[in-house]
Amino acid sequence: MSGLRPGRILVSEAELQTRVHELGRAIARDCAAEAPILVGVLQGAFLFMADLIRAIPIDLTTDFIGLSSYGSGRQQSSGQVRLVSDLSMPIEGRQVLIVEDIVDTGLTLAYLKRNLESRRPERVRVCVLVDKIERRQVELDLDYVGFTIPNVFVVGYGLDYGGLYRNLPYIAELEGASVPRRVSGP
Ligand code: IMP
Repeated sequence: MSGLRPGRILVSEAELQTRVHELGRAIARDCAAEAPILVGVLQGAFLFMADLIRAIPIDLTTDFIGLSSYGSGRQQSSGQVRLVSDLSMPIEGRQVLIVEDIVDTGLTLAYLKRNLESRRPERVRVCVLVDKIERRQVELDLDYVGFTIPNVFVVGYGLDYGGLYRNLPYIAELEGASVPRRVSGP
């Protein structure tokens, strides 16, 4: 263990719940015409996905995909994205909504969008809980964004450091990881 620990809370439990409900309402409004398939990106998005689907009051289905871009315990993307476990069903002709925990360089999501689009869905939208826009290396269209944060490494609410801290009910900065700065609104 590195000695780095969760420190200052950037997004509280109450703020998470409020924003997840706002996102759910927006998604329901946009996707009501045809039951979308929500694709959660493992492992980080599993908690967000669980809360988000309960905030979307329309017919929908779910699936998960496993990707890996960080080595265990790293704070930088390796840039090499690997498909660790695939979807359980075809998405051809479906409305797909990718549900991702955090976008940093954007390499993981860019890879995933390309990969899913090659399966000929009707449309691929993207919902991310946390956007670290300062760090972006590739252009990406994000349809729904929960929170925009500065370039700090965060843990909690599904986000981990070396596999730890996913179980925190809030999002906190990893102590010692960077200089604390303010979170901007949605
Ligand atoms: P990207 O490819 O650089 O956009 O990295 C995206 C992936 O890196 C996310 O799905 C997370 O698994 C991980 N990641 C990026 N930033 C953080 C962070 O601050 N905390 C925890 N995981 C992160």
